[in-house]
Amino acid sequence: MAIPLIIDTDPGVDDAFAIALAARSPEVELKGLTTVFGNVSLDLTTRNALRLLAYLGRTDVPVVRGAEGPSGAADVHGEDGLGGQAHTLPESDREIFGDDVVGLFRERVTPETVVVAIGPQTNIARALDAGVEFPRLIVMGGGIGVGNTTERAEFNFWADPAAARTVIRKGNPVVVPLNLTHRCIADTEFLAKVDQTLSNFTGTYRAYLENRSENTGIYIHDAVAVAEAIVPGTLRTKTYLLDVDDDGALVEGNHQVEVAEDCDWPALRAFMEQRLSV
Ligand code: BDR
Ligand code: CA
Repeated sequence: MAIPLIIDTDPGVDDAFAIALAARSPEVELKGLTTVFGNVSLDLTTRNALRLLAYLGRTDVPVVRGAEGPSGAADVHGEDGLGGQAHTLPESDREIFGDDVVGLFRERVTPETVVVAIGPQTNIARALDAGVEFPRLIVMGGGIGVGNTTERAEFNFWADPAAARTVIRKGNPVVVPLNLTHRCIADTEFLAKVDQTLSNFTGTYRAYLENRSENTGIYIHDAVAVAEAIVPGTLRTKTYLLDVDDDGALVEGNHQVEVAEDCDWPALRAFMEQRLSV
């Protein structure tokens, strides 16, 4: 049986790669997308989620509009969240499935369900506070001793530190941090091989990283986290004692957290290339 999967997301260029990877992988059955503010506003992340599903031929997947908050990564993801290319996706006139994210989790999370959270952790923290239990929660966020928004804070945790803290303390997550995702680069060669509609989203992100002399591709943080839901064991984990400080940095603490430390990137890259080619 395919693994039921719900993705909590703020699309977002790498979110788009992650959603496409899930939609094109028979090992998982996409049961819903819940949206959150983050890379751009909640209106835009929700619209992008609907349009991506229309593009991927998955208008059966419910989209629930989640938490609003201050967005702040247009320099990386473009004003529309998809590198100025959202207009290349089909417009969706489909209704969203409401705004009760906690209700969706209550209704659709079964003991087999995996939830992958690849935006600010606001929706997930609200659900945990409301008593929802996630049998398997995979979170892209944080960095041990490294940040991408401040020196020590990663964007998703920085955007809502209190929510990230709740998830670390109560959610029993597998955390996929920058330490790993910074080694998973979708470079020019990768981007030439995969679905060009997706590759075309990456211009703003690539320019941003090139300006910082980081690399000539993009980090596909969120797709790395989703890959672990598709093929469990893709990422090798180790348990750390951690917490989240008020600035959103992942720091030493008293809470046992499973952290993804390593993967066979050449193999994972080949897997992604194959699934994301059309
Ligand atoms: C995370 O922040 C967002 O900009 C990306 O989509 C990813 O989820 C990486 O720090
Ligand atoms: Ca994201």
